This record gives sequence, structure tokens and C-alpha cells, in this order.
Amino acid sequence: MARTVKARSRPVVMTVVGARPQFVKAAPLSRALRRRVREVLVHTGQHYDHEMSQAFFDQLGIPAPDRHLGIGSSSHGRMTGRMLEALEATVLEVRPDMVVVLGDTNSTLAGALAAAKLGIPVAHVEAGLRSFDDRMPEEINRRLTDHVSSLLFCPTPTAVRNLREEGIRRGVHRVGDVMMDAVVRNLRRAHGLRPAMKDAAPGSYYLATLHRQENVDDPARLATLVGALERLPHPVLLPLHPRTRDRLHRMSLQPGGNVRLRPPVAYLEMLLLEAGARAIFTDSGGVQKEAFILGTPCVTLRATTEWVETLRGGANRLAGTEPARILAAARAIERRRPQSRAGRLYGRGRASEAIATLVARFLHGRRGRGPAA
Ligand code: UD1
Ligand code: UDP
Repeated sequence: MARTVKARSRPVVMTVVGARPQFVKAAPLSRALRRRVREVLVHTGQHYDHEMSQAFFDQLGIPAPDRHLGIGSSSHGRMTGRMLEALEATVLEVRPDMVVVLGDTNSTLAGALAAAKLGIPVAHVEAGLRSFDDRMPEEINRRLTDHVSSLLFCPTPTAVRNLREEGIRRGVHRVGDVMMDAVVRNLRRAHGLRPAMKDAAPGSYYLATLHRQENVDDPARLATLVGALERLPHPVLLPLHPRTRDRLHRMSLQPGGNVRLRPPVAYLEMLLLEAGARAIFTDSGGVQKEAFILGTPCVTLRATTEWVETLRGGANRLAGTEPARILAAARAIERRRPQSRAGRLYGRGRASEAIATLVARFLHGRRGRGPAA
């Protein structure tokens, strides 16, 4: 149970998480924040299956949530509305000095709105990302969250520029990327798993993930995408997101050909699969970025990406959902493997430290005290 503290020695920061990519981001961030402030971790419950949630807490040593709101799986309005109501009550009880939200899910938007309406400053991690495609629910979440945030932590110069073009200049910091921190921290651990993953010899398979609403909720589009993956020239390991599992089940569609269905895997296994794949086929934001960091060629099953830097030199190709384009992208990679040049683009794995320092400085500035770090 989180405690309400009246006279407190350290500022209190409430971090809101709820979905798989937020657990990956929270792992390094929580560690860095807790060295400087008192963190109250709130899990909305958006993702709740063991392999979508608890597996990440266990493997990445994320502190157990102080609150679990148990809100998941409904329409956007209902989910966001129920989270908003529950998060408002939690903010009123915990009385944090700041609320930290990550990424672009419904949990992100609900956390930001609940805090902003109560006059509590919001810090947004992964601010400034834009796909410029308003049909993506995430694009709406990103824009709205950025516009109510006091601290905006951008991973890249492009993100800073996007914010400037929307008139947001104050509180903007380019800090690098917290998912880079997670890769730097965990890649060696992941390689230690190699002997246990015998069916995934490096270079023998493609890796695929598929979960975007606009891809998998349209039965015709999902069937087309699965059809393209089935025809790729090497085995395609497809750890299945529960949304996609549910949609395939409803359509009675059982992928065949070269596709090998798997349950969702935990983070270290995923890093290892990404590092050893001939190429990755995905509609995930985080997986595109990890492919770029790890130097694995990526084909993105969307028409747009918010991670535009990954497109450099053909390291990531936007193939959309047309089988001919997806198969042509695979052939191009087989002919000449593109080099990804992530270099220092996402920082050196210290974004979380930079964010925690800036949060502590902001909060002590508001209290008129010296820095806590
Ligand atoms: C959400 C995020 C998306 C993010 C993704 C990460 C929003 C709008 N979308 O999409 O940005 O990329 O998480 O994975 O916030 N389900 C389960 N068990 C779970 C979780 C989900 O069975 O533990 C199934 C349910 O049928 C649910 C469906 O997946 O209705 C969709 O879940 P939801 O959280 O609404 O969206 P995601 O597709 O996971
Ligand atoms: N991931 C994982 N296991 C999986 C699929 C993804 O650990 O089976 C990790 C992946 O490595 C990345 C994050 O989950 O760190 C990305 O989450 P997801 O693709 O669900 O969401 P997005 O990034 O598109 O919002």
C-alpha cells in the first residue's frame, strides 16, 4: 500500500505503467528514480496475462506495483475513462509532486490527464514521437500527453523538432532513449540464455510480431499479412500478442507455411531472438527500434513509423501491408544485408539517469531547495 506522507523528506513521484513496452521502459527508469525521489509505482492493469506483465517484473527486477488498478481489455473510451477515474483517486490519495508517464498507450494518456487536471506536473518519457497518422490510437495519446506535460523527455532530435513545430519548447530535454538503456543493461544476460533456445539458431529464422489494431482488427488485412509471412523463404517465429491470438481465433485462421506460432516471450528471450534473426517483420514501435540498435534488418508492416531514424540506409523498410512489397523487402535484405547505424543516436544507455536527475532538479526547484541527487 502506498502511504500518504504529509511532511516528506523526498519528493514523491508517481509512475504510471500498464502495458508491456512500459514495463521494459520502467525497469531502468524506476531504478534511477528511486535513487533520487520516492517512487510510487501504479499499474493500471491494461496488460494482465502473466507473459504480458508479471514475467517482465520478475525478469527485469521491477519493483512490485504499489497499486494495481485492475483495468484492462475494453473499448478505448471505456478503458481510458475507467483509468482516469481510478488514477484521479490514486493521485488524490498519494499526493505526488509529479506524475511520470511513458510511451503512448491508453495508460499513458489516462495518467497524464488525471494529473494535469489536478494541477500535478506531468513528465512524459518518449515525448515528441509522431507517425502523423491519426488513425493510430497511439498518435492521439502521444499528442495529447505532450500538450499537458511540463517535462518532455525526447529520445532523438527529430522528437525535439516535432514538439517545436507544435509550439512546445519549455521543459523539452533530449535525453536519449530508455529502451536503449534496457538493451545495454540486458543484452549480455540475454546471450546467456542461448543454450536454452535450441530451435532458434542464429541466422536460421525470421522473427515477426503483429499487434497493431489497424492491422489485426481488420480480418482481411490480418489474413493478407499472415499470408505474406507464410511465404517468406525461412521459418518465421511469431510470438503472438493476445490481441492477435484472439483475432485469429475468431477468424478460425491457423497460420501455416513457414510461420511458427509461439506464445509471447519474456524480454531477455525477445532480445536474443531479435539479435539472432536474419530479419524482423513487425508493426511494433519498440521492436523496430531494438532491431535498429541490435543491427538486425527490419521490415515494418505499416505505412508510417514514428521512429524515422531507423529508415536510414534501408536498415528498416516501410513495407505497408501489401504481400508483394513485404516479399520484395525480404528479397532485398537477402541480396544485401543493410547496416544499421544507431551509434549514439539513442544515447549510451544513460537516458534513465538523465531523466531522474532532471525530475529531481525540477521538483527541488519548485520547492526552492537544492538538488537531491
Ligand atoms: C496496447 C497499446 C499499444 C501497445 C501495445 C503493446 C493502447 C491504445 N494500445 O495495445 O499502443 O503497442 O499495448 O503491446 O493503449 N489482451 C489479453 N491479455 C492481456 C492484454 C491484452 O488477452 O494481458 C487482449 C484482450 O483481448 C484485449 C486486447 O488484447 O482486448 C487488446 O489489448 P489492449 O491493451 O486494449 O491493446 P493492445 O493491442 O495490447
Ligand atoms: N517484447 C517481448 N516479448 C514479445 C514481444 C515484444 O519482450 O513477445 C518486447 C520487445 O522486445 C519490446 C517491447 O516488448 O521491448 C515492445 O512492446 P510491443 O511490441 O508490445 O509494443 P510497442 O512497442 O509497439 O508499443
